[in-house]
Amino acid sequence: MDNNISNIAVLTSGGDAPGMNAAIRAVVRACSFYNIKCTGVFRGYQGLLDADFEDLDARSVRNVINKGGTFLKSSRCEDFRKPEGRKLAYDNLKSVGADALIVIGGNGTFTGAQLLIDEYNFPVVGIPATIDNDINGTDYTLGYDTALNTVVEAIDKIRDTASSHNRLFLIEVMGRDAGDIALNSGVGAGAEEIMIPEETDSMRRLMDSLKSSRKKGKTSSIIVVAEGDKSGKNVFELSEHIQESLEDYDIRVSVLGHIQRGGVPSCFDRVLASKLGVGAVEAIINNTLNVMVGISHKKVVQIPLKDAIEPRRYFDKELRRVADITSV
Ligand code: F6P
Repeated sequence: MDNNISNIAVLTSGGDAPGMNAAIRAVVRACSFYNIKCTGVFRGYQGLLDADFEDLDARSVRNVINKGGTFLKSSRCEDFRKPEGRKLAYDNLKSVGADALIVIGGNGTFTGAQLLIDEYNFPVVGIPATIDNDINGTDYTLGYDTALNTVVEAIDKIRDTASSHNRLFLIEVMGRDAGDIALNSGVGAGAEEIMIPEETDSMRRLMDSLKSSRKKGKTSSIIVVAEGDKSGKNVFELSEHIQESLEDYDIRVSVLGHIQRGGVPSCFDRVLASKLGVGAVEAIINNTLNVMVGISHKKVVQIPLKDAIEPRRYFDKELRRVADITSV
């Protein structure tokens, strides 16, 4: 061990994601393996403010690897956005004896952590966990794979009724400002069109696609719409817009909502969580601080937390091309 770390605190924050429990488990067990005390923080940053702490040992995390959600609970904490809130959080971390903090969450979680680093020089390591898969520096975030499978299963079911009734279904999926869930589930479920925020011509694409579908004799259609789509219309307004120009379509809207965040984590997410949880503790032990541990080409990598927070520019254009070819 290269430094004097004897106590690591861990919290989950922001929208929960399947695999968070598996990540907590890996953090706790890695701490146990390296003889480091692990302090669990309940309810994310709110728990730091309220000193809602509990010692965790290897046995505290038995039977959690297969559970969705997070047993440490989560929150979106307004008070942590205020300087006095962060001062209280820092004081509480010091008084519980924590030498470093592992935060498991998405962009908002990391933005809060970066403030703790900048203002108090308190060491933090982030583990990316959000169904949105919208974090720089990692190929995958925890929960994304499970959410994708949930979405594809739901769309498969909707397809049965869509084809039985010759209907057009607009299916809204989550993802905030990223189209990863929409694009990947759309390809995986064989959607006719996919609307994602990374493209500015999604409305034109949709109308062209629907017109040509009709000409080709397609009688039912599945359109996947990312919640962050930038066409300027929500999914219900889109439905009205389509109906006005294509009157013979029988259209239904389905907003999948929070079912996408729940459920048993996939094996992929459990393995990823285990790698990143161990990687986070080992980063701290090796004095690689203020980073996010991510996955790149199957390897655990560390990138500065401040870079992970930057808006992601990447968008899988190759998959869009595949989507266009496979939906003809
Ligand atoms: O970031 C995860 C996410 O599920 C997004 O896809 C979605 O936009 C948002 O959280 C919903 O947040 P809430 O649960 O606070 O409504």
